[in-house]
Formats: sequence, structure tokens, C-alpha cells
Amino acid sequence: MEVKEAIERRRSIRAYKDEEVPRSLLEDIMESVRMAPSASNRQDWKFIIIDDESTKDQIYEAANEQSFVREAPVVIAGVATEPDEMMSCEVSAGTVDLSIALDHLTLRAAEEGLGTCWIGAFDQEKAKEILEIPEDHKVISLMPLGYPTYDLTREEKRRKKLEEIISYNKF
Ligand SMILES: Cc1cc2nc3c(=O)[nH]c(=O)nc-3n(C[C@H](O)[C@H](O)[C@H](O)COP(=O)(O)O)c2cc1C
Repeated sequence: MEVKEAIERRRSIRAYKDEEVPRSLLEDIMESVRMAPSASNRQDWKFIIIDDESTKDQIYEAANEQSFVREAPVVIAGVATEPDEMMSCEVSAGTVDLSIALDHLTLRAAEEGLGTCWIGAFDQEKAKEILEIPEDHKVISLMPLGYPTYDLTREEKRRKKLEEIISYNKF
């Protein structure tokens, strides 16, 4: 599958089949995460793969009880290990690095017929406590991963028009 096709296929998936993701496939996808670029190649990240039902239940509670978080066979927590590190452009390196890496995940998953969903609605402190993450780290996103119960391309993507979001040379 071309990258363009994976980008078009990817949707936020909020319903998952009760079907395991083979570990070999999961780790193949995580290899693509590992290849993501990062500021100064710091690779300031850790990815916690949550596949234990009771931990997943707790994470579901920390994520505002969004039902599909519990439904997915796997939830991945993307953790920035140096979240306070700023680039000279005054942007948090960890947030950018984790976002790129997790986007690799979403696109590889789409290529493999798997669904994902970015989860930003969660309690940071609760998630850190459940996953025993050091206090100075930060969970950038939770990401359920699994086989969708419906066709990924069922819904049309609602997006602004290109001319609304690009400009040449000046804002
Ligand atoms: C940073 C971020 C946080 C998000 N948090 C949530 C969330 O907590 N729950 C949810 O259902 N969707 C969440 N989404 C999914 C967005 O609603 C979704 O990406 C957007 O509506 C576009 O739809 P699409 O992903 O299907 O193209 C999040 C997306 C991003 C990028």
C-alpha cells in the first residue's frame, strides 16, 4: 500500500472486534514507530503496550470511560521521557517526537487493516499512576489498536478545504 493510500484509509476507529493482534504484527508496527525521527535523534520516548484486561479497565476509567478503549485488544501509551525539553523554536520536542512516532503507528496500522484512535481525553496523573510512569514523564496520547468492526473508509473525512489551510510566502 502506498503512503497516500494509508493516509486516506486511516480513520479514528471507535469499535473493535474481540480479536487479538498477533504479537509479531504488533512488533512489526512498533518497528516503524522506532524508525520515526526525533529532535536531535533523542528518541525521548517509551511505548507501553497494554494488553492486560485489568490494566486496560483502569486505563478505560482514566480515559473518561470511552468504551472502545476497553474494547480494543491493545492500548498503547506513548510516553515522553523528557517532556519539558524545549527546542530553540519554543516548541516542546517530546510532544512533536511522540506525535510523529504515533502517527507512524496509525498509518502502519491502517496499512495492516487495523484501526487506531488518538486519545487525548484522559487524566494524566491517573494514567501515570496506573502504568507506573515516573513523575517527570508525560503521556502524550493513548492509542487503542485492533481490528475495526466496520470498514475503515465507511465515513467520509470532514476536512477544511486546501485553500483555507495553505498560503504562499506569508500567513
Ligand atoms: C490529539 C488528538 C486527541 C484526540 N482525542 C480523542 C479522544 O479522546 N476521543 C476520541 O474519540 N477521539 C479523539 N481524537 C480523534 C479526533 O476526534 C479525530 O481524529 C478527528 O475527528 C478526525 O477524524 P478521523 O481521525 O477519523 O480522520 C483525537 C485526535 C487527536 C489528533
